[in-house]
Amino acid sequence: MDFETLVRERRSIRGYKPDPVPKEVIQEIIEIAKGAPSSMNTQPWFFHVITGEPLDRIRRGNTERMLAGAEVQREIPVRGGYEGIHRQRQIEVAVQLFEAMGIARDDKDRRQDWVMRGFRQFDAPVSIVMTYDKSLEPATISHFDLGAVTYGLVLAAWTRGLGTVINGQGIMQSAVVREHAKIPDWQVIMTCIAMGYPNDEFSANEVKSRRTPNDEIVTFTGFDED
Ligand SMILES: Cc1cc2nc3c(=O)[nH]c(=O)nc-3n(C[C@H](O)[C@H](O)[C@H](O)COP(=O)(O)O)c2cc1C
Repeated sequence: MDFETLVRERRSIRGYKPDPVPKEVIQEIIEIAKGAPSSMNTQPWFFHVITGEPLDRIRRGNTERMLAGAEVQREIPVRGGYEGIHRQRQIEVAVQLFEAMGIARDDKDRRQDWVMRGFRQFDAPVSIVMTYDKSLEPATISHFDLGAVTYGLVLAAWTRGLGTVINGQGIMQSAVVREHAKIPDWQVIMTCIAMGYPNDEFSANEVKSRRTPNDEIVTFTGFDED
């Protein structure tokens, strides 16, 4: 698959087959992802790959805490919610996903069920928790580096027939993730990635999110001297 096709075809996958993912395949994918650039080649990332019973414990812990109304616990600073154009884009993709799933606007139960799937890591057979070394704080540049390596991972997974979704919801109860993934105190949890073989029957997997046209986000300077 050439690079352009890969980038154009890849989309987030939120419904998975239960089939396990071989450890060797995950090793290969991480090997490729590590080719990402990082600030001064610091390579601040760690990959905690979880499956089986420990991942089920995380799903249960996240679900219990979210249903009990526990406060969100994240280890990186995040804003409360999006506004303006960012909120519009967030709503647009949510509408696409709900339409694909046939979830009506007023169907509170199914909407709630959708949100809970995120806390269960979309029932994927594998979750990869991405962390970095706490001694790098304030770590905005390391966040950039983790974004780069994560995109590499997501693309490399796609070339092996594996789907992923980067899943902020999965680490919203970071103490649960930290305990069951055995993450040491000196690492900060950035995000997690749900991974597995896509379930072709799951209609949200077909959703292709839209991108803003270049004329709204790109400026060229010094090209046409007029
Ligand atoms: C940092 C980050 C966090 C995300 N968290 C979630 C999440 O919690 N739940 C979810 O369904 N998708 C999540 N996503 C996936 C985005 O919704 C998705 O990438 C975006 O809508 C574009 O769609 P695409 O990946 O199919 O191109 C996250 C993506 C990123 C980069």
